Amino acid sequence: MQSPSLNLNRQEFGDPINKDKVLTLEEAHTLLNEWVLNERLKVHMKQVGHLMKEYALQEGMAASEAHKWHLAGLLHDADWDQWPDQHCRKIIEELETRSIDPEIIRAIACHGPRYFGVEPRTAMDKMLYAFDELSGLVHAYSLMRPEGYAGMEVKGVKKRLKDKTFAAQVSREDIDDAAQRAEVPVDDLIAFVVAKQGFAELS
Ligand SMILES: [Fe+2]
Ligand SMILES: [Fe+2]
Repeated sequence: MQSPSLNLNRQEFGDPINKDKVLTLEEAHTLLNEWVLNERLKVHMKQVGHLMKEYALQEGMAASEAHKWHLAGLLHDADWDQWPDQHCRKIIEELETRSIDPEIIRAIACHGPRYFGVEPRTAMDKMLYAFDELSGLVHAYSLMRPEGYAGMEVKGVKKRLKDKTFAAQVSREDIDDAAQRAEVPVDDLIAFVVAKQGFAELS
């Protein structure tokens, strides 16, 4: 039997009238803790959220904008644990019901163009896609290093990236595709993840 398609079959999400409507960080964590039982997945979502926030701040965005980036990262896989066949339709519909800013919802909808059929357009869309798989690979690498993130180098990550048997579930194709779309060299993305990810707030 063919697995159900995750294609969302639409390109627009949320209602523009809800621009700037967000969840507080506390509300987002409540949702995350209710929906996600798998601790590793929680770590992944928090790491991607942290990378998104830090990237927005590095780009000079206001704290309110960086918060939106943070939310997109934090919630992008919220339905993956309990409802994988509804990923990411369920979290999108939840955020639409809660009248959240369409930009956040759309970024979540395009974190896997091959699966969801939604083309990344904005910087938020593109960077969420760019960080998602790479974050997982770098984290897997940190877990096999006795020092974790300390002293990690870009070239070490690149070696693992080339070794297709390492963290084999991480799509190298998606990492390359995302970097191209974001117009950020993969090396720069790796350097950013290495520099920031070890400091993600995971509590
Ligand atoms: Fe996902
Ligand atoms: Fe993810």
